[in-house]
Amino acid sequence: MRCTINSEEIVLRCAPEHRLLSILREDLRLTGAKPGCEIGRCGACMIWLDGAPTNACLVMTYQLEGRKVTTIEAVAADARSLPVREALAGCGGLQCGYCTARVVMTLIHLHGQTPPPGREEAAALACGNLYRCTGYGGIARAIDSLFPEA
Ligand code: FES
Repeated sequence: MRCTINSEEIVLRCAPEHRLLSILREDLRLTGAKPGCEIGRCGACMIWLDGAPTNACLVMTYQLEGRKVTTIEAVAADARSLPVREALAGCGGLQCGYCTARVVMTLIHLHGQTPPPGREEAAALACGNLYRCTGYGGIARAIDSLFPEA
């Protein structure tokens, strides 16, 4: 099975039902995507699959042929991440860090859309993410600053 992970072509030699989250964390040591619920509910394992936010815990090896996977490790060096990282830092939205990768991945994806969504739509689209430690206030303020109403 061939796919691209963070711009590098990878040949996967594992069982077809092996989960992408395990491949990333255990085989490739890309630990930015976190294990949480592991049933597609919490968003802790967020990656981009062909550019779309996707829960890595729900992607099996057999689904990866020819696909492009991007993880937070690659996004960190992407200039598009800067406004999102600055907004989260400036608004106190970084919390403990466990959820930060998925928040950044989600908000960069939304911020890069043309036209970008308005504040309420962005907040609704980001609501599939659960945050455990300090609540939603800082993240909500970051969304407000990134997605002003038209
Ligand atoms: Fe994948 Fe929760 S660990 S959605």
